[in-house]
Amino acid sequence: MSIDDLIARLPKVELHCHLEGSVPAPTFIELAAGHGIELKTTDPEHVYDFFSFLEFLDLYYQVCDALATPADIERGVYDSLVHGKATGNLRYREMFFSPTNHSQVSYGQMVDAMVSGIKAAEADHGVSCRLIADINRRQSPQVAVQLVEAMIAHPSEYVIGLGIDDDEATGPPEMFVDAFTLAGRHGIRRTAHAGELGVAANVRTSLELLGCERIDHGYAMTRDPEVFAFARDSGVHFTGCWFVNNFHEGVFTEGVDPATTGLAQMIRAGLPVSLSTDDPTMIPTDLNAEYASVAATLGLDEAAVVGLARAAIDGSWADDSTKATLRAELDAAAR
Ligand code: ADE
Ligand code: ZN
Repeated sequence: MSIDDLIARLPKVELHCHLEGSVPAPTFIELAAGHGIELKTTDPEHVYDFFSFLEFLDLYYQVCDALATPADIERGVYDSLVHGKATGNLRYREMFFSPTNHSQVSYGQMVDAMVSGIKAAEADHGVSCRLIADINRRQSPQVAVQLVEAMIAHPSEYVIGLGIDDDEATGPPEMFVDAFTLAGRHGIRRTAHAGELGVAANVRTSLELLGCERIDHGYAMTRDPEVFAFARDSGVHFTGCWFVNNFHEGVFTEGVDPATTGLAQMIRAGLPVSLSTDDPTMIPTDLNAEYASVAATLGLDEAAVVGLARAAIDGSWADDSTKATLRAELDAAAR
């Protein structure tokens, strides 16, 4: 069996994927048309084209606008999970969503719609999902606190954590201590996008001041030995996104060797790292491609590939019995 065959067979867990970055292009185009949203093009091959991170975020906001009603959101979730299963043999995902980017629905309506989409995808395709509400760091710290208050007021067994995304330069982690402290007091698990394009210090701040148990991305810390040592010694889990890292670090535009990038260094150093797609219909990538490209670039053998898949289960916030099931399924497929 080739490594690529093995990768395709493995039932996978991903811990870093955004609802709004994982809506298939045809679904986005149809929903946008229904709401009179003007797109650059209605060609599904090009509707997600972007050339910079900020352009990417503008497009991401358009997807948020297209997911305007509970029915849109339910469909978006369902189509996202089916796409993950079809392209990457996705078995379980912890999926970010950006409640404060959807002005036409309340937090509770959004969660209820997402849960309906998850249940339907689980029944039809055997793919499970839990949710992480994301603070948009370009909005104010007060909006972030209000989001956590909404999470507390509308608890759901499907919403298991709080995250923070968008542009690190505009919203460094120290601005959001109140929201994360409130979440921690209510037993909500915490993660943060840090060290993606922002400074390495954001990784340390997210651990020390926000109480994060995971870091999303983290690549910048490979350029700061002190932060790198701190994060390594903390044992924190990193959700790495290979194609996003390569996009940011100039692999596609400047011919940078992918084996030298931040994420490549983190994997080689043996940190607890799992692989995820981040925004798989926008990038575009999928879970099989993430694993295959990492394996080819770093020369990983079968055991190392299975080790990456196991790391995702270890780093997840699923309950112990779910984790045991996921490990047994992985072991059976790896045999
Ligand atoms: N929102 C969706 N994808 C993101 C990313 N890669 N970085 C920051 N915010 C995001
Ligand atoms: Zn992300």
